[in-house]
Amino acid sequence: MSESITNSSNASDQSLSTLPLPDFLPDYHVQSPEVKARFKKLYQRKIILEIRDLVKHFETPQGKVLALNKINFDIYRREFVCVIGPSGCGKSTLSRILAGLESYDGGTVLLDGKAVEGPSRDRGMVFQGYTLFPWRTVKHNVMFGLEMSGKGKHESEQSALQWLDLIGLSNFADAYPHQLSGGMKQRVAIARALVNEPRILLMDEPFGALDAQTRCKMQKHLLEIWRNIDITILFVTHDLDEAILLADRILVLKAHPGEVQEIIEVPVPRPRSERQINSPEFLATRARLDQLIHGNNAHDDTDDEPLSPFVRLTSVDDNVE
Ligand SMILES: Nc1ncnc2c1ncn2[C@@H]1O[C@H](COP(=O)(O)OP(=O)(O)OP(=O)(O)O)[C@@H](O)[C@H]1O
Ligand SMILES: [Mg+2]
Repeated sequence: MSESITNSSNASDQSLSTLPLPDFLPDYHVQSPEVKARFKKLYQRKIILEIRDLVKHFETPQGKVLALNKINFDIYRREFVCVIGPSGCGKSTLSRILAGLESYDGGTVLLDGKAVEGPSRDRGMVFQGYTLFPWRTVKHNVMFGLEMSGKGKHESEQSALQWLDLIGLSNFADAYPHQLSGGMKQRVAIARALVNEPRILLMDEPFGALDAQTRCKMQKHLLEIWRNIDITILFVTHDLDEAILLADRILVLKAHPGEVQEIIEVPVPRPRSERQINSPEFLATRARLDQLIHGNNAHDDTDDEPLSPFVRLTSVDDNVE
């Protein structure tokens, strides 16, 4: 195993601030045998999505903004890729382009060898805001895409019910979205996207609005779904632990302009669980991501920008600190 990982092998009893910051994470060839075997198998699969020299500008009142600059990346069939990077680095722009909701001005995006032009059933989407139709029941929300594509009512209903069974919400088939919790709504949104049997599922911070406990359950649900069906997932997140827990590889973007900074092959063995969070592989990956996203001063808050002084809105002289 690599020096950087071995260095942090006693890290579970150290605070992150004392961890050595690795300059790189070694690739899969020098990982544990099971991780090495997993990547070997992954790279033998077909490339499903090819992104070549992708460039995207936005026109703004302040001038042209280069949101994505020469992005090059391939995704393999049934791979789980997470995209991470600072706010404004172009994560949502990338997922919207892949979804066909946004145009691009340079490069190519090919899904199964065909250029991505506009939305299509071969790409499912789950974004952060709950996008269920409030006037439709859970079952009818899941049936929507199938009905739109011309499937008969009976067939659509049967598929929807199968999906609700898979996500554990059969008992809520006739409920309306307002009767569900946040996590349940996102499960329905995932079922609604997957019922169309897309080739790739694009998820932009889908669990961002959920509390920590629900988020953890949703991560497990998603991994379970991914294991059991032929789906490739591109998942945007801000949460480093979430990315490590879910991904085969993590695409790290940097901001202004949005460019690929590094592609990380996650060395944490599968099946994954939160129990691995203190493992040397997990900590080394987190330290590397932290370094890429926050720089070498990731754990040094001495150079934080000073906050402007607040106007004191209480006249009571009882300071809390
Ligand atoms: N419709 C738009 N018009 C003009 N500029 C835009 C538009 N959408 C995005 N941008 C700009 O493109 C850049 C990338 O934005 P994007 O929303 O993709 O970032 P992000 O990585 O998803 O950020 P966050 O982590 O905050 O969600 C930013 O500079 C943003 O201001
Ligand atoms: Mg975004």
